[in-house]
Amino acid sequence: MTVTTSIHGMWSTRLAFILAATGSAVGLGNIWRFPYTAGEYGGGAFVLVYLACVATIGIPIMMAEIMLGRRGRQSPINTMRTLVSQGGHSPVWQLLGWMGILSGFLILSFYSVIAGWTLAYVFRAGSGIFDAIDATRAGAIFADLTSDPERLLAWHTIFMVLVVLVVARGVASGLEKAVRYLMPALFFLLLVMVLYAAQAGDFGGAMTYLFAPDFAEFQGKADEAILSAMGQAFFSLSLGMGAIMIYGSYLKQEASIARNTVIVAGMDTLVALLAGLAIFPIVFANGLAPDSGPGLIFQTLPIAFGEMPGGGLFGTLFFVLLVFAAWTSAISLLEPLVAWLVENLGFSRVRASVLGGLTVWLLGIACLLSLNLWADVRVFGKGFLDLFDFVTANVLLPLGGVLIAVFSGWLLARSSSLDELRMGDGLSYRLWRLLIRFVAPVAVSIVLLNAIGVLKLIGLG
Ligand code: PFF
Repeated sequence: MTVTTSIHGMWSTRLAFILAATGSAVGLGNIWRFPYTAGEYGGGAFVLVYLACVATIGIPIMMAEIMLGRRGRQSPINTMRTLVSQGGHSPVWQLLGWMGILSGFLILSFYSVIAGWTLAYVFRAGSGIFDAIDATRAGAIFADLTSDPERLLAWHTIFMVLVVLVVARGVASGLEKAVRYLMPALFFLLLVMVLYAAQAGDFGGAMTYLFAPDFAEFQGKADEAILSAMGQAFFSLSLGMGAIMIYGSYLKQEASIARNTVIVAGMDTLVALLAGLAIFPIVFANGLAPDSGPGLIFQTLPIAFGEMPGGGLFGTLFFVLLVFAAWTSAISLLEPLVAWLVENLGFSRVRASVLGGLTVWLLGIACLLSLNLWADVRVFGKGFLDLFDFVTANVLLPLGGVLIAVFSGWLLARSSSLDELRMGDGLSYRLWRLLIRFVAPVAVSIVLLNAIGVLKLIGLG
C-alpha cells in the first residue's frame, strides 16, 4: 500500500511544489556559479554541454527523484529503506541517503559563505559606493570583503540563522510563503538587468560568447570542462542529494511528475541563461576577464549598478532577491537531514534545525577562513571552499544521480514507476525509461571515470 501523506506536512497546491522546487533549484548556482564556470571554460561550448546534460541527464533524474520521494514519503534515508525493503533489495541502497546528507552539509557550508557575500553586497549597493565605479575599484571592494574573516563570519552567521528559522517552522508554513512572491520578483529583476545590459553593454559579444559553441575554447581542458558542465547541471537542478526527493515526498498523489519537472528544469535553465546575458555584456564592455572566477558577478554587476540611473535602488533590490534565491535553496539543503533527525531520533523540528544548522555553520568557518587566514591550507591543491564545491558538484552529486538512476530504472519494478509517474505506457514513459536506465547512468559514469583517469588508464580515454 502506498502512503499518501508525509508526517512533515504537504504542499498545499501543485503550484506550491513548483515554487518550492524552483526555489531550491534557482539560487546562487544560476546567478553566481553558472556565469563564472561558463567563463572559465570559454563560454558557448560549455553552455551547449550544460544544456545537453540538463535535457538528457537532469530531467530524467529529477523525475526519478520526485518519484522515489513521493513513493517513500520520508527523509531520503528512510525513503530508500522503505523502497528497498518493499522490493527485497540490499540495504546498502540506504547509503544513497547518507551520501546525500554529507553532500548537503558540505554544500551548505560554502553556500552560506557565498550567500554571506550577497548579503554584504545588499548594503554596499545601498550605500552608494558603486556610483561611477570602475573595474579596478569593484575588484578592490570584493577583495576587501573576502580578505576579512570577521566580516565573512558575521554574514555567514546571519545567513545560517535565516535558514534555520525557516526550516524550524516547517515546510508548509515557512517555505511556501517565502517562495511565492520572491521567485517571480527575482525573475522580473533579472529581466530588467538583461535589458539594461543589452542597451549599455556588449550584448552581441555576449550572445556570441554564450551561444556560438567553439570547442577549441576548451583549450585542451575538455575532460575538465565536460565534468564541470555536468556537475553544474546537477548542482543547479539540486539533484543527487535528496533535496528534490524530499520535496517530492510532500507532493500530492495526483500531481504530474513529468510536467512539474519540465517546468522546474525549464525555469532553472532560463534563469541561468538570463544571468549570463545580464553579466557578460558588462564583462566585455568593461574589458573584464570572463574567467576571473568566483568573484565574477561581484565585480561586474556593481559596474552596471554604478552606471544606470537609480542603480543604488536596483542594486540593493537585486542583491536582496539573490539572498532570497540563496535562502530558498539553502532550506532544501538542510531539509533532508532535519526530516531524518525528526523521524529517527524523535527530535522536534526546532531542535533538529538548530543542531543541523550549527554543524553546517562550524564547517562554514573552515570555508571562509580558506579565503584568507588559511589560504595556504590545501587539500588536493584546493582550499576548503573550492574543495567542497568541487567534490560535491562534480563528484558526490553525479554519483548520487547515478545511484538514483540505477535504482529507479533497474531495481524499482516497472509497474511501480509506471504507477507513480502516471503518464501512461506511451512514448514519454518509454523515453524516460531509456534515459534513466541507459543514457544517464552510462553518460555520468563515463564522465566521472574519465575525470579520474580510469578510462585513460585502460587505454580508452
Ligand atoms: N540548486 C541550488 C542553486 O543552484 O543554487 C543549489 C543546491 C540546492 C544544490 C540544493 C543542491 C541541492 F540539493
